[in-house]
Amino acid sequence: MSDCILEQLKSQTVWLLIPFSLGLLSLLKLSLSTLKWVYVNFLRPGKNLKKYGSWALITGPTDGIGKAFAFQLARKGLNLILVGRNPNKLDEVSGSIKSKYGSIQIKSVVVDFSGDLNDGVSRIKEAVEGLDVGVLINNVGVSYPYARFMHEVDAKLLGDLIRVNVEGTTKVTQAVLPGMVARKRGAIVNIGSGAAIVIPADPLYSVYAATKAYIDQFSRCLYVEYKNSGIDVQCQVPLYVATKMASIRRSSFFVPSTDGYARAALRWIGYEPRCTPYWPHSLLWALANSLPEWIIDAWRIKFNLGIRKRGQLKDSKKAE
Ligand SMILES: NC(=O)c1ccc[n+]([C@@H]2O[C@H](COP(=O)([O-])OP(=O)(O)OC[C@H]3O[C@@H](n4cnc5c(N)ncnc54)[C@H](OP(=O)(O)O)[C@@H]3O)[C@@H](O)[C@H]2O)c1
Repeated sequence: MSDCILEQLKSQTVWLLIPFSLGLLSLLKLSLSTLKWVYVNFLRPGKNLKKYGSWALITGPTDGIGKAFAFQLARKGLNLILVGRNPNKLDEVSGSIKSKYGSIQIKSVVVDFSGDLNDGVSRIKEAVEGLDVGVLINNVGVSYPYARFMHEVDAKLLGDLIRVNVEGTTKVTQAVLPGMVARKRGAIVNIGSGAAIVIPADPLYSVYAATKAYIDQFSRCLYVEYKNSGIDVQCQVPLYVATKMASIRRSSFFVPSTDGYARAALRWIGYEPRCTPYWPHSLLWALANSLPEWIIDAWRIKFNLGIRKRGQLKDSKKAE
């Protein structure tokens, strides 16, 4: 059989053999990447996170994705440092985690990332002093209340986006890194967004998307900077997750619940420098990569203009 195929091939002209070989190579590449996709999404075991250290620090753990991360990390037996702005919500979350996973320790640090960040970061430094913090989840983030053009973004919103998303993540990382460097181990997860990485542009959310592009590049540089120091830095790139920020209440196949997202997310910690942990999101990412940018741009601006219209309507009803 193989002799017959070889004979057939030998009798072909070079002009036929070249595209045939290229086609075969592309098919091989596609098969290998499909196999890799199946392996990393369904078969590869998650790392033992306790090997990074016995404590995990999570920013923005009082709601949404951060809260789900806190529960999942506690489930793995890690002690938690919860950094949030609302003391009552911090108590509530830490109480319900304790009642479920009683054996772990929890510390809370009150920091409003849109307030005095230097003061907040010095409280974080105090809290991590002497603790074996192995995992850092830089989750805190804010977005627009609803889509708007750049000239409509007020100074407060602009300041908050940059302070919380960019400065917050940068300064918390800098506060936690020295301990990790000294212990020669750690895992840092920075939460990026598909708005900056999967789609070519997120019009009417320009500042939000740009802050997430910062997170992506910041993470990628740190990944290389610290990979020989035993510290794994990763940017996770969620698409829509059902949270108050996304204004999505119900989960669906392409929109995981926070719990669904965090369960998937934990299995990726310590691997690739950039990933989208929830596998249906990776299908959407592949689809976005295969479409011409102008199609995605046209769909996205239409979609976001719809959000803006609904937001403005709600605002005007509230004002009445
Ligand atoms: N949901 C999505 O579809 C999606 C998609 C891509 C990326 N992301 C990213 O995922 C991360 C989490 O988003 P999410 O959807 O879970 O948001 P969320 O439900 O709004 O939760 C945000 C968390 O951050 C806290 N927070 C907000 N502003 C803060 C401030 N100034 N100081 C301290 N804490 C503050 C909130 O505290 P309170 O409980 O006090 O409000 C809450 O704990 C963000 O970085 C976001 O950009 C989300």
